[in-house]
Amino acid sequence: MLTFPDGFLWGAATAAHQIEGNNVNSNWWVHEHTPGTTIVEPSGDAADSYHRFRDDIATLASLGLNSYRFSIEWARIEPERGFVSRAEVDHYRRMVDTCHEFGIEPIVTLMHFTVPRWFERDGFWRAPDAADLFARYTELALPVVSEGVNYVCTINEPNIAAMLAGGEDASNLVAYGLPNPDLQVADALLASHQRSREVLSQLPHVKSGWTVATQAFKALDEEGAGEKLREYGYVRDDWYSEMAAGDDFVGVQAYTRTFIGPEGPRPVADGLETTLTGWEFYPPAAAEGIRSAWELSGHVPVMVTENGIATADDTRRIAYTQGALEHIHDTIAEGIDVLGYQHWSALDNYEWASGFRPTFGLIGWDKQTFERTPKPSARWYGAVAQANGLPDTRA
Ligand code: BGC
Repeated sequence: MLTFPDGFLWGAATAAHQIEGNNVNSNWWVHEHTPGTTIVEPSGDAADSYHRFRDDIATLASLGLNSYRFSIEWARIEPERGFVSRAEVDHYRRMVDTCHEFGIEPIVTLMHFTVPRWFERDGFWRAPDAADLFARYTELALPVVSEGVNYVCTINEPNIAAMLAGGEDASNLVAYGLPNPDLQVADALLASHQRSREVLSQLPHVKSGWTVATQAFKALDEEGAGEKLREYGYVRDDWYSEMAAGDDFVGVQAYTRTFIGPEGPRPVADGLETTLTGWEFYPPAAAEGIRSAWELSGHVPVMVTENGIATADDTRRIAYTQGALEHIHDTIAEGIDVLGYQHWSALDNYEWASGFRPTFGLIGWDKQTFERTPKPSARWYGAVAQANGLPDTRA
């Protein structure tokens, strides 16, 4: 039996735009309804979790989980520049209260890729006042986290955000073929993160950090591949973990690995199992992300804030998660401070440009009625959480 530390946070993660539905004031809603993009379908009602969050939180609790990572939507809280919706602040506070009601630790993300449409219109992360605006939004959101919220993720995957900000269409957020990051945007995201942390420091109980898409890049055994790995990987991955030094924690979000040759990233080799996103089925990804974030940040506590697979075969989700957790347990045995594991995702959701087809959820739902159905993987994972551990199948 592999037993996890007392108080380990067993949870599942979501992002507002991917499950709430009708996030009409966000920049993504605008893109989804602009002709000629590679976005395959709009988010529409998504899983209607905006209205059904209570059921969703209750379901996670009934499965046996003790935490839920969700994001709050800037475009709802500040739908027009400088115009604040107190009702939406209250809505998200009710989500926190509902978590408490069901014995769930809320882990709140302030920004998970989407921003208000006015923020993009007014210059996006390249606007000179971007960090001021993000700090102001953090102030507006303080009532949501003012009591009973111990973990706040400021910015989700700033490394992916800096790559998507280039305006290039990454139809799939996969390490192979990721666009070049916009380094000006990377700096703006870091400044925004730091300003946001300053605001949050008014609340001494809150621990804050950002969450990095760790990529498990690996150099092939070919001349020049090691050099290429450093050049390609540093600006897409490592820099963001280094910049987490001094934070309260760093989030690790890991799915797969990518091999780097002298010319750059290689597509998944023939014959390897892939998931519905086309990524290699690679359960050690999270453990590798934990080790790299821990080392590069100078030993900041790590939380796995996302890890999972898109599959229509739920037995592969269980196999992937079993493998991931075994490797994560190794990192804890090595002495790394790992705070918890948030499986991606609680629900099948809107997978950005790929639409609803790649199903990452522990819980499925009916397209007409929105009725939720936990999958066998959800029950399996809930039992692991309840036992605070799992058998080692490698033994
Ligand atoms: C993102 C999620 C996304 C997931 C799977 C992460 O990059 O934070 O929003 O759904 O990976 O692609």
